[in-house]
This record gives sequence, C-alpha cells and structure tokens, in this order.
Amino acid sequence: MIEFRSVRKEYDNGTVAVHDLSLSVREGSITVLVGPSGCGKTTLMRMVNRMIEPTSGTVLVGGADVRRSDPARLRRGIGYVIQQAGLFPHRTVLDNVATVPVLSGTPRRAARTRAAELLELVGLPQELGGRYPAQLSGGQQQRVGVARALAADPPVLLMDEPFSAVDPVVREGLQDELLRLQDELGKTVLFVTHDIDEAVRLGEKVAVLRQGGHLAQYAAPDDLLAGPADDFVTSFVGRDRGYRRLSFVTADGIRPQPAPTVHIGQEVGRAEEWVLALDGADRPRGWVAPGAVVDGALDEDSLVAGGSLYTENAPLRGALDAALSAPSGLGVVVDAEGRYVGVVTAEHVLDVIEDHRRPVREGQS
Ligand SMILES: Nc1ncnc2c1ncn2[C@@H]1O[C@H](COP(=O)(O)OP(=O)(O)O)[C@@H](O)[C@H]1O
Ligand SMILES: [Mg+2]
Repeated sequence: MIEFRSVRKEYDNGTVAVHDLSLSVREGSITVLVGPSGCGKTTLMRMVNRMIEPTSGTVLVGGADVRRSDPARLRRGIGYVIQQAGLFPHRTVLDNVATVPVLSGTPRRAARTRAAELLELVGLPQELGGRYPAQLSGGQQQRVGVARALAADPPVLLMDEPFSAVDPVVREGLQDELLRLQDELGKTVLFVTHDIDEAVRLGEKVAVLRQGGHLAQYAAPDDLLAGPADDFVTSFVGRDRGYRRLSFVTADGIRPQPAPTVHIGQEVGRAEEWVLALDGADRPRGWVAPGAVVDGALDEDSLVAGGSLYTENAPLRGALDAALSAPSGLGVVVDAEGRYVGVVTAEHVLDVIEDHRRPVREGQS
C-alpha cells in the first residue's frame, strides 16, 4: 500500500535525514517507524503525503508514484495525525472534525452528522462536540485528532508521535482504541514513535531506524525482540526484551508435567517433596512443604500459599510468572475452569521460548 524505494532526503544544509531506504507497508496493517529523536522518522513519513519531497528515490501509495499525484488530492486520501493533535483552536470540536469534508464539498449538515458519529467511534461523548479544543484534556484532544483524520474516510493514516504528549495511562487507552479502530476499519496505518513499547504493542511490523535515516531492522515485534539485527537494535529494544517478548509468544509447546497432588481432607502423613493440594473441584489451594507432617486429614491451614496460576494457552509470560512465584518452583497450570492440569518449571518455559525463536526477517519485504 505504501512503498519506499531507495528513498533519500538530504536537506539544503547538507543533513542527510533519510539514507537510501526501502520499505513496504502492507495494506490494512499498522506499521510502526521507531527510533531515537532525529533519526528521520518524520521526514520519511512526510514524504508519503508530499509535505516533503525526496532528494532521490520513489514513494508509491496504492501502487502510484506520489510525484504524479496532485498534493491536495493525495492528502485527501491520507489522514494525518500529529502530536498535540494540531486542532484549530477557534473552532468547536465538531467543526474541527467536519472541516475537511466541508472543504471537499460535503454539505455542512451531513459533515456534522458524520463528525458526531466519528466522535463516538473514537470514544468521545457527544456533548464534547460543542467545546473548544482548549476545554479538553490532552487525551481527548488526541481522540479528536484521530476523528478528524478519519473524517474523509482515507484508506491511509499517517500518525506522527500522536500519543507522545499524554501520560502513560491515557496513552495505553489511546493505543487500545487505535487497535480497536484498526480492527473495525482496516486502514493502512503508518505510525511513528520513539517508544519501543508502543511500537511492539501497535505494530504488525516495526521498522527500527537509526541516526542518518538508516533502516536498522524491519520485522514483526516478536522477531525484533527475539533477534535484534545488531548492537544498535539490541540496545534500543532494551535488555528486558526476553521477558517483554513473552507477552507475544503463545504457549504452543508448553508441556505441563504431573506433580504429586493430594485433596483437602485426605491423609498425607509425611510429605517427601512438594505436594500440591487441590479442592473437591480439582482447583489448586496451596502446597504441602517437603518434610511437613500432617496429622489426620489435610486442611487448608497446613498449606503453604501457592504462586500465581497459569491458564493454559495464555501468553507465556504468565507461565514464567507462575513458576517464579510458586514456593515449589513449579508453576501450576490450570484449564479455563481453574482445574489443575499440571506444572511447569521456569527452565521448561525458557526452553519453549528458545524453540520459538524463528529466523529473523530482515530488511525489506
Ligand atoms: N527542514 C530541515 N532542514 C534541515 N534539517 C532538517 C530539517 N528537518 C529535519 N532536519 C534534520 O533531519 C534529521 C531528521 O529529522 P526528523 O525527520 O524530524 O527526525 P525524527 O522525526 O526521527 O525526530 C534531524 O537531524 C533533523 O535535525
Ligand atoms: Mg519527528
């Protein structure tokens, strides 16, 4: 849908902002450009809607060279969202959203009706429509910015650090909203951020750029975290990438093992090793410690509290949490109804992660 072919941008002062970069963005996906400040993200993005012209190379949108499109027409098919939303301060929220459709000939009433629908779509209450941007919170302003970019129903959305100015909690809400919108609308989104967490959360694919506008790696989040292409990417994605990556790896390959179990109310005698206690519905209640001697029927007071439980098929992060938090070192795996299935060790979880490592798809695709 969007393709950069050997694109280079050298500014008049000699700064090379983008260096011979090739990249293609799949239709209907969210692709993220991530990298430190000044690495050329904004420059690259603005070449898509011709706010900046490349020094050499070609940018294609929907298979057509953007140089052959009239800039005004091109921009009608490309929504653009920036940090601080860039709203018109003297227009109401509703009129901000309706502006572009009105400019392109939609009758004002129809444009306002559509604008009201869009506010709802981005999760804003209708009554905000009559307010001015300064009367909204930062997060609300960003939502208006997204609604405005969607107003002309463009197939492509460019988003340049749209959520960077809002606090982390609000930002997560906005990210969720974008993922939901994307599910619903299937736009092609090119999203710029300097935040690797945001990049891996949102991107179907993530392009990591480094200073001078070099493409360091272009890969799915999972592959990026599993196999950084070089030292730059390694340090950029951070040392905790192994752990972060667990959120993406599903649990195929996890083989829960049987552990010794006992039911509450049964006789244990002396426990030789860690024994998992279950209730009448086979739900884990805690552990009997090795060496513990239980007189008569086992009751809950004799148990050592268990760690977190891992529900089958959830992301592997939960399995590692379960193993690391259990007094026995055995993470308890349960089914969807909370019934005991088996146990896993942290080593086993880490082995499964190793097995999941696939060859990294690098460079262009
Ligand atoms: N109009 C311009 N003239 C000269 N240099 C520029 C201009 N715009 C950006 N730059 C430089 O180009 C590089 C890339 O900038 P930019 O694309 O804004 O990076 P990012 O969005 O990744 O922070 C930076 O070194 C920046 O200073
Ligand atoms: Mg920028």
